[in-house]
Amino acid sequence: MADPSEDTQIARLVVDRQIATREEVRVAAEQRDQLAKNGRIRPLGDIMVDLGFLTRTQLARLTGSREDSGGRPAQQIAGYQIQKKVGAGAMAVVYRAKQLSLDRIVAIKVLPRRLSKNKEFVERFYREGRAAAALSHNNIVQAIDVGESGGFHYFVMEFVEGCTVYDEIAEGKVYPETEAIDIVMQMAEALVHAHDRGFIHRDVKPKNIMLTKQRVAKLADMGLARETTDLEAAMAEAGRAYGTPYYISPEQIRGEVNIDHRADIYSLGATFYHMITGRVPFEAPTPSAVMHKHLKEPLTPPDHINTKLTSGCGAMIEMMMAKTADERYPSCRELLHDLALLARGEPPHYTRQRMDQDVLDTLATGDALEPATLNRGRGAASAAPPTSATSILVIILAIVAGISLLLNLVLAIR
Ligand SMILES: Nc1ncnc2c1ncn2[C@@H]1O[C@H](COP(=O)(O)OP(=O)(O)O)[C@@H](O)[C@H]1O
Ligand SMILES: [Mg+2]
Repeated sequence: MADPSEDTQIARLVVDRQIATREEVRVAAEQRDQLAKNGRIRPLGDIMVDLGFLTRTQLARLTGSREDSGGRPAQQIAGYQIQKKVGAGAMAVVYRAKQLSLDRIVAIKVLPRRLSKNKEFVERFYREGRAAAALSHNNIVQAIDVGESGGFHYFVMEFVEGCTVYDEIAEGKVYPETEAIDIVMQMAEALVHAHDRGFIHRDVKPKNIMLTKQRVAKLADMGLARETTDLEAAMAEAGRAYGTPYYISPEQIRGEVNIDHRADIYSLGATFYHMITGRVPFEAPTPSAVMHKHLKEPLTPPDHINTKLTSGCGAMIEMMMAKTADERYPSCRELLHDLALLARGEPPHYTRQRMDQDVLDTLATGDALEPATLNRGRGAASAAPPTSATSILVIILAIVAGISLLLNLVLAIR
């Protein structure tokens, strides 16, 4: 019997290690589903071998690399019985374990020794981990405990049975707009809860959104201290081929010290973008080139890539991903408000307000309207009646056009 979580693990590993492309994984997954409909259950890895996307040896190595990493360090954690490794990220390995005292299943994230030696980091790890245990929200993976055993520091959290948004993207999924809105709304709810209590996540991305079988989305790694700076953490991650800084905000790249909650809004916007277009917002051959684009390159509107999207959705993502934090949603509350409108098929409110403000600013300074200004508001403008500033402009243009038409007529009659 094929195990779906085994399949997602393999899909992720082959893409992460660039052994196969996302497209190849998608083709194999389609074939697997087709076979399953005919009552033949075959693991994704085997199908990829059949299709020539993977050699038997590569597959053996991939499955082997998961089994033999059962994890000697984690076996030593007192009070927990390690069951199996469930994943690995840039800075840690995650295990499923039984917490013996309470006889329940938990997830344990074990830091490598390299980080355990960094005193300043370890202090922050404990401080933030303990504080996060006080958060309690259905859309946040519950932090349970932090501790040290055999020289390894670990973070214990709620175990989420399911997969991550990243796993689904790696299988080639492009989310229908309504499904993506549902998940992004749950993340915005999680962030309202965290931001209100002074927590900034700093690493919102598809790999940190877990999905249960009932499609409850849970934000992972809340309260997990990051390495010295976000930029260093992102580079470390890129260096280990676990990913590229596709979701990091411009202010984190610049290494600003006063990062606020709006960095999370940017990253959630980038995640939203990836979910509904199937593409990361900025793609380039190297991590630093990707980061350069976050800083400088205008975003290709998501509804230009996926023309099935509503313009309101495109406008919202553009506002979430504004390069300047001041131009984004001021908080996740306003974001939630617009997501709820979008979910009901109505145009978002704040994107339109933003556009009106831009038009007023432009009129006040007497500058010509920039394409970017018009672009940002275009979603709402097409879906809603024009408001004050735009209508004044339209009326003036109509009067000018009318006068010149009249003049032409008079001249023609003469
Ligand atoms: N609380 C959890 N419950 C179950 N699985 C988890 C949990 N946290 C993380 N995982 C799994 O472990 C993988 C690696 O997680 P992590 O080390 O946090 O990676 P990253 O640094 O990319 O966020 C995740 O992609 C997920 O599959
Ligand atoms: Mg994570």
